[in-house]
Amino acid sequence: MKPVFATVLKIVGFILCLVLGIFIFYRIQISDLTKLGYSEQASNTILFSGYKEKVMSIGENKTLNLAFESEYFKEQYLDNYAKIKYVEQNHFIENINRLLKVGYSNNDINIIFQHGTEESVKEFSKREKVHYLEEFFSIDYAKLENYDRYVSYSDETGEDEIETVIAVNLDLDQPDYEYSTPVPDFSLDMLVNKHHHLSEDFVPNDLTSISTEYASEDDLECSRLALNAFIEMSRAAEAAGYGIVINSAYRSYQDQVELIDFYRNAYGQEYVDKYVARPGYSEHQTGLAFDIGSRSSRTFASSKEYGWMLENAHLYGFVMRYDERYEDLTGFRKEPWHYRYVGKDIAQYLYEHNNMSLEEYSVVFLNK
Ligand code: DAL
Ligand code: ZN
Repeated sequence: MKPVFATVLKIVGFILCLVLGIFIFYRIQISDLTKLGYSEQASNTILFSGYKEKVMSIGENKTLNLAFESEYFKEQYLDNYAKIKYVEQNHFIENINRLLKVGYSNNDINIIFQHGTEESVKEFSKREKVHYLEEFFSIDYAKLENYDRYVSYSDETGEDEIETVIAVNLDLDQPDYEYSTPVPDFSLDMLVNKHHHLSEDFVPNDLTSISTEYASEDDLECSRLALNAFIEMSRAAEAAGYGIVINSAYRSYQDQVELIDFYRNAYGQEYVDKYVARPGYSEHQTGLAFDIGSRSSRTFASSKEYGWMLENAHLYGFVMRYDERYEDLTGFRKEPWHYRYVGKDIAQYLYEHNNMSLEEYSVVFLNK
């Protein structure tokens, strides 16, 4: 072998070993980071931007991982990213950057993400820093998009934060019937009221006729589920010496049109607003509501059956829907006779919580 050729070979061999060595060293560095949960892409950025030691000391962190993957990564916010709880939202890092720029603390930003959707956080991050973040958002079910409405409502009414959040989430700061959310599906916890309506053609799919054994008229109908529960309740009432009967049950949209016209003509609009729901806004259209009468007295509210129902209806899945304690939430005056089937679990829960309204339950527990 010629000496020159041997030298070249040695140099090439040396370079190859060096490259291999560097590559192995690089892979070890990367694997330290990937073992902590950082992606290949994030690990590369971390390594080449000189933050490996810092990131290793922070440990696993999904927000930081995403930040290092993102084109919006800002060095000066590295410590902040590490303290912001990861949420599954697009534009997460961009929104964090904007909120930090507005002047929110890491804690504020965690609160904002916890209560906001991708869209509402984005909008929120574009405005000036607000004053009452912690006041309203210490409440689990407060919604970021409602922030301004919470402030106005509590200013106008003087209600505390909890009452305010419940009222605004129920849209009670908006005009009845005009500002309303459609209720698309039948469910035992469905909420139908002056701000949640059914479509004109909504009919419960288990509609069934009610035998006159249980009803005061022969053409009444309701949901099969509710009827089965009523039959169980009625038998228990009878065994205990009480007689209950269904006076009104499912009412179609058109039935409610006729009913409200009748009451408006007889008693006027003011009465109607307090006692009769507009078509689409009556829970009688769900098939789950009953107006109940007593077999012992013409006035249900003064009958012994009324007392029995107050004590026992929840055991069969029924709740008295309109109580004077929460007329402001339901929008209707007390109706001792109007019961709604919600199923045993919810009814039991409401009973154990001081006969909580279905409105409050929807906001507080279903986060609607
Ligand atoms: N009376 C109740 C509110 C209704 O009309 O549905
Ligand atoms: Zn009713």
